Amino acid sequence: MIDSIIESVATVEQAPAKLNLALHVRARRADGYHDLETLFAFARDGDTIAVAPAASASLTIAGPFATGLGAGPDNLVARAAVAFCTAFAPAAAHAITLTKRLPVASGIGGGSADAAATLRALARLHGVPADDGRLVAIAVALGADVPACLYGRACFGSGRGDSLVPLDGLGEMPALLVNPGVAVSTAAVFARWDGVDRGRLGEGDTLARAIAGRNDLQPPAEAIAPVIARAVALLAAQPGVVLVRMSGSGATCFALFGDAAARDAADRAVAATEPGWWRLRRGAIDNMMRKEGTGRSHRAARLGAVAA
Ligand code: C5P
Repeated sequence: MIDSIIESVATVEQAPAKLNLALHVRARRADGYHDLETLFAFARDGDTIAVAPAASASLTIAGPFATGLGAGPDNLVARAAVAFCTAFAPAAAHAITLTKRLPVASGIGGGSADAAATLRALARLHGVPADDGRLVAIAVALGADVPACLYGRACFGSGRGDSLVPLDGLGEMPALLVNPGVAVSTAAVFARWDGVDRGRLGEGDTLARAIAGRNDLQPPAEAIAPVIARAVALLAAQPGVVLVRMSGSGATCFALFGDAAARDAADRAVAATEPGWWRLRRGAIDNMMRKEGTGRSHRAARLGAVAA
C-alpha cells in the first residue's frame, strides 16, 4: 500500500548502460585526468532512479547488484542530489530509490548514469529545464562521464570525455553486453596506460568510425583482469558479429551484430560457455529517453560549449 503510494508520487528516470564504441587516450594531463576522444552510445536497459519529495533525505538501493554498493553520502546519487538541492532547491529533501541492474565498476556508466538520471529526475520534479547550464556544470563536477549520461544519446566526447558533440547513433543495431564478473578500477586502468598516443578517431559515420577505432584502455585493463581477453575472444568468435570491444575501462565488453537472430544466437552461445557471466541483450541505440526534435542539436551544442 505504502509502496504503491510512493510509486505514484515518484518521478522515475532510466539510467541506461553507456557504451564507449571507441576510446582513444591521447595524453596525460596535469590535473590527473587524461585527454581522450570517444564515441558514446547508450543501451536500452540499465538502472532506474525513483525520486519522491520527503521530510528528510534518504537513498535506498535495490535490485540484483545492490549488495556491495554503499548508500552513504559518497554514493554519486547522493552527491548528485546534494549538488542539485544546493543549486536549485535548498529547502527540499527527497527519498531516492536506485534499482541497480548494471554491474558495479564495469565500464558502462554505472554510477555516472545513476547520477545523471538523478539530476534528470530532480530537474523534472522541480521544473528545471534539462539543458540548464547549471545542471550541466553539476554533471561535469560529478565525473567525466556524467555529462554524456545526462545527455543520454550518441555523442562524440573529447577533453576528459565531457566536451560533447552530438552524433548520429547506431539506430536499433542489435548488441550483446557481457561482463566476466570482475570489477575493475577506472583510475587503476588509466594509470597503467602506456603513454603512447596512437592517434585520433577518424571521420565517417558512427559505425565506420567505431570499427576503425580502438579502446586504448583495453590492453591495460586486460593486464589487470586477463579474463577480459577471453570475453573479447568469445564474442569475436560468434557468427554475424560486426564489432567487438571492451567499453570504458572495462571489464564489460560489447558485440554489435547485423541482425537480431545472430545476436540472440551469440547470447545463447555465451550463456552455454560461460553461464556465470552477466549479459545484457538489448540494442545499442542513440536515444531511448527523449523524442528527436529540431531543437536537439542546439541543446547539444550548448551542452558541449558549457562542458568544454
Ligand atoms: O571522473 P571520474 O570520477 O569518473 O573518473 C574516475 C577516474 O578515472 C579519475 O580519477 C581518473 O583517474 C580516471 N580518468 C582519467 N581521465 C579521464 C577520465 C577518468 O584519468 N578522461
